[in-house]
Amino acid sequence: MKKRVAIFISGGGSNMVSLVRDMQSGDHPAEPVLVLANDAAAGGLKKATELGVPTAVVDHRPFKGDRVAFEDALQAELDKVQPDIICLAGFMRVLTEHFVAPWEGRMLNIHPSLLPKYKGLHTHARALEAGDAEHGVTVHLVTPALDDGPILGQARVPVKDGDTPDELAARVLTQEHVLYPAVLRRFAAGDLTPVYL
Ligand code: GAR
Repeated sequence: MKKRVAIFISGGGSNMVSLVRDMQSGDHPAEPVLVLANDAAAGGLKKATELGVPTAVVDHRPFKGDRVAFEDALQAELDKVQPDIICLAGFMRVLTEHFVAPWEGRMLNIHPSLLPKYKGLHTHARALEAGDAEHGVTVHLVTPALDDGPILGQARVPVKDGDTPDELAARVLTQEHVLYPAVLRRFAAGDLTPVYL
């Protein structure tokens, strides 16, 4: 039985596309069953539809900061498709323990830094400001603490002289598209050995 995967997005969904394409590429232990966005304008929704993956939207704004009610609405969408695994892929809402605890060990996140460095936002600018020679991306299991949890994979990229945050972000994103599918493939097969690229 293939593992059923729900992917949460907020924007363009390029990581979602790389995950779906890999799952659809043949012999894979998982299949995509839902792409869920917190914004109806998320560009990834159209891409998911084109890839034949069902979509749902739970807009966080009407909940006016009631995170528990928002999370209950997310869970209600999941209940309809019964996923085994959630992949957060550029999902830009913080999830509380209320949602995370029942999914602990079954929810992955991709974060554009070499964790534990640069949790939170603006990771590329922060790596440049720090003068780091190396930057990268991490896939980890989600725990209630933000951008924490056991690391399932990391990919490194060099920082080049004169890099702007956007140039560095683009170099990292290319590696995100390699790392996340590699981690999901391994994770869905029950292997938690980290992938290092
Ligand atoms: C990616 O770079 C991802 O690592 C980052 O958002 C981008 C989404 O791009 N995630 C975070 O910053 C999470 N804190 P995408 O929508 O094209 O996949």
